[in-house]
Amino acid sequence: MSTLAGKHIVLGLSGGIAAFKSAELCRALVKAGVTVQVVMTQAAEHFMTAVTMQALSGRPVYTSQWDPREANNMAHINLSREADAIVVAPASADFMSKLLHGGADELLSLMCLARPLDKVPLIVAPAMNREMWNNPATQRNVALLKADGIHVLDVGQGDQACGETGDGRMLEADEILEELEAFFTPKVLASKAVLVTAGPTYEAIDPVRGITNLSSGKMGFAIARAARMAGAEVTLVAGPVHLSTPRGVTRIDVQSARQMLEQVQAHVTRAHVFVATAAVADWRPDTQAEQKIKKDGSGATPALQFVENPDILATVAQSPRALSGQLFCVGFAAESHDLLVHAKAKRIRKQVPLLVGNIGPATFGQDDNALVLVDADGVLELPHASKQKLAMQLIGQIAFRILNRVG
Ligand code: CTP
Repeated sequence: MSTLAGKHIVLGLSGGIAAFKSAELCRALVKAGVTVQVVMTQAAEHFMTAVTMQALSGRPVYTSQWDPREANNMAHINLSREADAIVVAPASADFMSKLLHGGADELLSLMCLARPLDKVPLIVAPAMNREMWNNPATQRNVALLKADGIHVLDVGQGDQACGETGDGRMLEADEILEELEAFFTPKVLASKAVLVTAGPTYEAIDPVRGITNLSSGKMGFAIARAARMAGAEVTLVAGPVHLSTPRGVTRIDVQSARQMLEQVQAHVTRAHVFVATAAVADWRPDTQAEQKIKKDGSGATPALQFVENPDILATVAQSPRALSGQLFCVGFAAESHDLLVHAKAKRIRKQVPLLVGNIGPATFGQDDNALVLVDADGVLELPHASKQKLAMQLIGQIAFRILNRVG
């Protein structure tokens, strides 16, 4: 379930061609369980009709401060008091300048000015031409809006409606949704750095073949996303997977276990939490043929020899920062049977404070999972749920343990 479920958001549209994305944003918010009250400026109505936004939000749209539907005729007060947040998307250059100066000559800016500062956060998604965005006046306004406590989202980069290319596009609806979810997630890992490994590794036999496994990387990516939402700075070292990078996460792609170890060692020095979800190949061919190994027609098979790969988790768990408690290590165990027995044994063997067990064949590639958390104090089951939800729960458990130094 989204952290947005049950929230009430006032979605404000100022004038900009990006308003078409706000229709999709409105729909996505409603789908996430949000009640959406749309407020539009006159300029916004040039780009999007109130009828469209009413149909998508399921509520009449407000466009005027003189709207007689409000019994006390104070839409700017009534609408802002009910909101968990006001989100202005698109926020035009003109609208941001108006916000900065306390302008209040139409309903949307009037409502932003009238909102209770301590209760109703204001989030704006800028949208404009690249020259307008880069203009010192806009950049100054953005800095001052931030100083005023207004949450200014990043802009996207790319082709613009005017035909130019650069910074200033409004974020896509799914990106804004992600930012809003992050905004409402408790920042239990604020100022912490989290390093996650995910996916399988690929151990080459020759230039066209190798050994790997069925790990999809979904659990690790979900954990990286959840950690970022919880306020952490997240680095994700990923084996070969077909997943998009969670927003705000730094991703490093690798192939083999040795490459994964190298990148982990390069980034773990400043991490506070290391979560090893990767299904690292235990062995690799002792040599990698430079050319494709050919069949010679005799029926003879190649004589492959294997050597053991480094154990990344065990190596990190033995580092001075882990041993001194500055780095909290979390291992995963993907088992096919006797989950609890193996998970407990693996926690001791890898010498980590927390080991998360799951049934590998049942979860590989799936969107949901069930976890069992094993630490020095005992066992906690996280019942069957989406990997995203489990990841959020696990991040909560990790944060609790760091704060209370349990395990
Ligand atoms: N792991 C690792 N490096 C390895 C092997 C495993 O970092 N070379 C990590 C995994 O990311 C996971 C944990 O160790 O967090 C356990 O991985 P798993 O494959 O379940 O265990 P193995 O150590 O490989 O033990 P076994 O194959 O006997 O189950």
